[in-house]
Amino acid sequence: MTETVVDPPCAAATARRARGRPLKGLVLAGGKGSRLRPLTATGAKQLVPVANKPVLFYALDQLVDAGITEIGIVTGDTGAQVRAAVGDGSAFGARVTFLPQEAPLGLAHAIVTAEEFLGDVPFCMYLGDNFLKEGIERHADRFRADDCAAQILLKRVPNPAAFGVAVLDDEGQVRRLVEKPNEPISHLAVIGVYFFGPEIHAVTPLLVPSARGELEITDAIQGLIDAGKAVRSSTIEDDWIDTGKKDDMLEANRLVLATLAGRVEGTVDAESTLVGPVVVEAGADVRGSTVRGPAIIGAGTRLEDAYVGPFTAIGPGCDLVRCEIEHSIVLEGSTIRNVERRIADSLIGREVVVGRSPLKPQAIRLMLGDHSQVDVV
Ligand code: G1P
Repeated sequence: MTETVVDPPCAAATARRARGRPLKGLVLAGGKGSRLRPLTATGAKQLVPVANKPVLFYALDQLVDAGITEIGIVTGDTGAQVRAAVGDGSAFGARVTFLPQEAPLGLAHAIVTAEEFLGDVPFCMYLGDNFLKEGIERHADRFRADDCAAQILLKRVPNPAAFGVAVLDDEGQVRRLVEKPNEPISHLAVIGVYFFGPEIHAVTPLLVPSARGELEITDAIQGLIDAGKAVRSSTIEDDWIDTGKKDDMLEANRLVLATLAGRVEGTVDAESTLVGPVVVEAGADVRGSTVRGPAIIGAGTRLEDAYVGPFTAIGPGCDLVRCEIEHSIVLEGSTIRNVERRIADSLIGREVVVGRSPLKPQAIRLMLGDHSQVDVV
């Protein structure tokens, strides 16, 4: 890969880097995305868009905003797509190095994969399918100013069995970490943004694969604690979403769209109504339709006699004719035509066609990928 050196996008980032120890970024963009199939049967889960921007790009933007511009991206089977989408990183104001992982052997294995890239520089590891609304600036600043071996972020969740969890002692120090606990030992989930010093590289060689066959990051952090290293935590109130499933994607989409500022660069005819914050991208064509924001209509998308309701992101190059849709994400190049029932709470992939057919017998005809899900009323 040709590497180009670019300056951080703003002076504030440079100033921040100068204040404490420098940090590299490590973004994990491998994994199978099995909970988002069939979308992820053909595409990387980190490239599924939130408000028409791949979820991975939020992580990259947030790292750069925190002054972290030297970024390694660990890739898996979908590495070619991730490379194509991210390029050399210059679009983000970063310098990106791609680090192919031999197999999805765990988050701690990703650190092993990146060891040469990281050297002895402390780093922020950001899981490319995690979405943290307010970004990481203050967490990065805190870690830079400190000399701890690791800093983790915790969030109180109702379903701790789905995550790695942390047990704190009376002084708020991290005592124990357990991956996907069967017992309700803590409601504090370890979120997918971690800060590590080079001490972590002394721990990873000691790890053994867990029951799911992975080198777990929670075991690596436990290794630091057991070795007497300083591991700090912050319990955050910020919105955090692990975008593994459809409803998580819709929730992240809702959070981003809730802050949307309206902008019309495409055409909207006199018979159409836009209510609230609506983005109509360049080349989009809205005719005889109502769009009730917050909503985004992607570049080159055509709406005709359609209703697009709140918290909906329609990707570029779509065609929506005589249909109604709300609280949904539609990816690039899809068509929805002549559907009488309103579509809601849906995640529709690329180049999908949803339509009404005049054919007899009148029936629902489906051509769905493996693991698709259809709710019919
Ligand atoms: C991974 C980590 C887990 C962490 C979670 C955050 O889980 O293993 O400790 O809480 O990310 O998203 P996974 O997505 O591999 O199930």
